[in-house]
Amino acid sequence: MRILILGGTRFLGRHLASLALARGHALTLLHRGQSGPALFPEARHLLADRNGSMDLLAQGEWDVAIDTSAYVPRHVRSVAAVLKGRVGHYQLVSSISAYASLDTPGTAEDAPLATPADPTAEAITGETYGGLKALCEAEALQAFGRGACCIVRPGLLVGPFDPTGRWTWWVQRLLRGGDVLAPGTPEAPVQFIDARDAAAWMLDQAERGSTGAFNLTGPTQPLTMGGFLDTARATLQPGARLHWVEEAFVLGAGVAPWSDLPVWLPRASQPLHQVDIGRALATGLHCRPLAQTLRDTAAWAAEPAAAPPPAASAGPARPAVGLAPDSEAALLAAWAAGQPAQP
Ligand SMILES: NC(=O)c1ccc[n+]([C@@H]2O[C@H](COP(=O)([O-])OP(=O)(O)OC[C@H]3O[C@@H](n4cnc5c(N)ncnc54)[C@H](OP(=O)(O)O)[C@@H]3O)[C@@H](O)[C@H]2O)c1
Repeated sequence: MRILILGGTRFLGRHLASLALARGHALTLLHRGQSGPALFPEARHLLADRNGSMDLLAQGEWDVAIDTSAYVPRHVRSVAAVLKGRVGHYQLVSSISAYASLDTPGTAEDAPLATPADPTAEAITGETYGGLKALCEAEALQAFGRGACCIVRPGLLVGPFDPTGRWTWWVQRLLRGGDVLAPGTPEAPVQFIDARDAAAWMLDQAERGSTGAFNLTGPTQPLTMGGFLDTARATLQPGARLHWVEEAFVLGAGVAPWSDLPVWLPRASQPLHQVDIGRALATGLHCRPLAQTLRDTAAWAAEPAAAPPPAASAGPARPAVGLAPDSEAALLAAWAAGQPAQP
């Protein structure tokens, strides 16, 4: 197949590109040449900024365009205006953040989508990201038609080349060993997917011409925070000791879920880790063993080149992740001593 990836040189797109080449597809990548300029010499590279002209796409035909770098509806509109009629299929990477609410477990693809307060917003923040992704979806359906669109809504993507450092922080924390603060309760649900498994499933759908919307996260069987951290400990540093600290204490100490302690969410937000992945499973989603993702992420994170490239992403600005070692030690000491949480 002739595949165009809008993006393709950082994380999810990078895995997609690598797999597309391995499967023998003819690959074109459109990007600015900042994130991974030397990657994939076998592919054709079109260097362009999505905030400028898309004229470089004015020639050529593709069986499928996979869009990993659309954050505002204008990004979809400008590509559709040039590509229309010359691409068979358009696969848009949206997000589960596009849902209006993730307040109840089991959010499925027909749940209402977010409506942004300002549909013309250009700044991608935690507040605008989901609503703008919902608008990107609407733009895609209008421009390419339902019969040619596949909307992919990933949850937390993890594994090698993750530029956010979120899930990777836990890998590095467990590798450091010692007394590890485990937030909340071991029974709390968690969902995430190795970006390589997400890429494989997406490419399968591109090859099949699947249409419609799909939540895309893992694992295929429910996982808990306890299951995640126990496997991480056993795989990476069996001598590490997990100490479960009550949610109210952790929050009372001013620890920010998701960023200070990545992946972890307090009880009220846990439905984000319980979205319905039935459609992805029914269309062949396969997730590799957690231990493999842990080991591969540890190996990648140990490479000097693992630091994310300075090239700013078009995505949301992110706070620094991970609890500092001295803060973690102080919290564990206060918890063990039965002292009240101090912000
Ligand atoms: N990470 C998660 O947990 C998560 C969860 C849900 C959804 N998502 C979505 O998943 C997608 C995957 O992102 P990714 O970073 O992994 O994809 P990627 O395709 O590997 O990397 C982003 C690509 O976009 C290019 N790019 C960035 N800004 C650009 C611009 N202004 N003009 C042209 N090209 C541009 C980058 O290259 P240059 O920098 O060289 O231009 C790079 O090739 C995103 O749409 C994100 O919203 C992510």
